[in-house]
Amino acid sequence: MQFRHAMKLSAIFLVSGLLTLSVHAAPATAEKAAANAPEKAPAKIEVAEKKTADQIVNTVCAACHAPDGNSVISLNPKLAAQHPEYLEKQLAEFKSGKRANAVMSGMAAMLTDEDMKNVAAYFSTQKLTLGQAKTNAAGSLGEKIYRGGIAATNVPACAACHGANGAGLPKQFPRLGGQHADYTLAQLRIFRTGERANAPMMMAIAAKMTDAEMAAVADYIQGLR
Ligand code: HEC
Ligand code: HEC
Repeated sequence: MQFRHAMKLSAIFLVSGLLTLSVHAAPATAEKAAANAPEKAPAKIEVAEKKTADQIVNTVCAACHAPDGNSVISLNPKLAAQHPEYLEKQLAEFKSGKRANAVMSGMAAMLTDEDMKNVAAYFSTQKLTLGQAKTNAAGSLGEKIYRGGIAATNVPACAACHGANGAGLPKQFPRLGGQHADYTLAQLRIFRTGERANAPMMMAIAAKMTDAEMAAVADYIQGLR
């Protein structure tokens, strides 16, 4: 037996950006209700509106990292051309608290796993704007540390993991070349104090470096390409 059902379709757009779509199937007649017990619960489909990487970057991240990932504020890292796996790892760890940073923890808390993947892919395909070393060019202390490490204190050469030109190694070691010296120096310092505790290898290396050595290699890295 067949019954015609009156269908009511209502779409409610909430201010929050969530889209709730409810479909109600209501009986057309009283006989129908009697013949067709028990009544099925109305189908309710809730679809959270998905944001594209473009929307997330331009409405949230761009203020600090620039729309193309080449931040112009030296304490905010450039994200352009960074390996996507590394960016994703950092976002997940800001969210979980494994990498502590008040600002970024709040940012990452708003992102789903899928958002993180998408924004990581977005920034990784942007073109990196190169930088210049202030004083640590070829032959400098910064270059010596980057390429040869510091023998006296067993600091390994940065190039061994981050590559001769600072491009890193996809999935394992982040790109460093062209990064702001102020940001690199700040990271080395917080690896040393343990405030950034999400990378045991880097904590062990930074523990053996002085401020002057960190500043020299950070300056060299800014000009590295
Ligand atoms: C209010 C400024 C601000 C906003 C907005 C912001 N960030 Fe950040 N971001 C920072 C700062 C500052 C750091 C460095 C944190 C530290 O020192 O550990 C950072 C670090 C990062 C890192 C780590 C990079 C690395 O090389 O380790 C990633 C990835 C990142 N941000 C992605 C994002 C994404 C994606 C968004 C948008 C959803 C965003 N950020 C929004 C300021 C911001
Ligand atoms: C044994 C391999 C290894 C060596 C050698 C090494 N690093 Fe790293 N480095 C890593 C890994 C792995 C990470 C990624 C940490 C993470 O996933 O959070 C990293 C991350 C970093 C970061 C953070 C980048 C960012 O965008 O926040 C900086 C800065 C850094 N290394 C600088 C150096 C310097 C300077 C040297 C040389 C004195 C060096 N590293 C030597 C493995 C290494």
